[in-house]
Amino acid sequence: MYKISVIGAGNVGGLAALRLVSLGMGEVMLVDKLKGFAHAKELDLKDSQVLLKQDYPIIGTDDFSLIKDSGIVVITAGLARRPDMTREDLLAKNVEIIKDVSLNVKKFCPEAIVVVVSNPVDILTYAALKLTGIKQTKVFGMGISLDASRFANLIAEELKVSPNVIETVVIGSHGEGMLPLARLTKIKGVELLKFIDTQKVEELVKMTTGRGAQIVSLFGSGSAYVAPSAAIADIVKAIIKDEKRVIGVSCYLNGEYGLKDVYLGTPARIGKNGIEQIIELELNQEEKEALSKSAQLTSKHIENIRKSLN
Ligand code: LAC
Repeated sequence: MYKISVIGAGNVGGLAALRLVSLGMGEVMLVDKLKGFAHAKELDLKDSQVLLKQDYPIIGTDDFSLIKDSGIVVITAGLARRPDMTREDLLAKNVEIIKDVSLNVKKFCPEAIVVVVSNPVDILTYAALKLTGIKQTKVFGMGISLDASRFANLIAEELKVSPNVIETVVIGSHGEGMLPLARLTKIKGVELLKFIDTQKVEELVKMTTGRGAQIVSLFGSGSAYVAPSAAIADIVKAIIKDEKRVIGVSCYLNGEYGLKDVYLGTPARIGKNGIEQIIELELNQEEKEALSKSAQLTSKHIENIRKSLN
């Protein structure tokens, strides 16, 4: 039986666990340092099983050793931003949390595929790679598939069509350097720019980039969790069912797009081995420059935490 561990039982981790239970993906291990918290979620999740017609084991614990033999570890632990904070502002605190989690992953399930969700995701995924010692194809971050879903939703609202006929492309960091690519976005195979003018596109791109912050500001405290947890479940399903589907994830780049030693969002094929292929898109000059700016920003943050990675 497949075992999936979700680290951090807050809004994102808790709802991700529910989605995995609902999809019948396997055993779900929910871990949170706060005593009793994950256990409470366990009881609540278990109480839903009859209604959901599912019966895989569910455990909620503060004991990290129980992640042993996990096939996938999803890391959601960490602080969420407040209004007036960027995702990058969380770095100093969250890198310490990721360090602790990563060392436990290294100790108890060094064969697992690790999906990092905590923010700033691209930088923390880099930290997880270095600290777990797991190979690059098995350590990646969730971020831009969520942004792509947001972009599609906003276009759908503008054009009054179903979001499901819209194929958006977002690359770059899941943060200040996010790049929703209107040029490569298609509606039933037809370029987005045939439907709306560039000024409107600019507006939608801006709304997509700011969507996470918009939700944080409306909540007042805490960030989005419904769409993020859906994006997690989508990735986990692609791995467990070996779908080899193209999903945008934060990948370790080693020469792709001319970039090295940095994590950034790009389409990749996801299957039972994790990242089975990084898809390098053909970018125009302007997009290339924007992506390399995104990479520079991310690399700068990576440099700031490098001493915590030993
Ligand atoms: C957001 C968080 C998950 O974008 O970064 O809502």
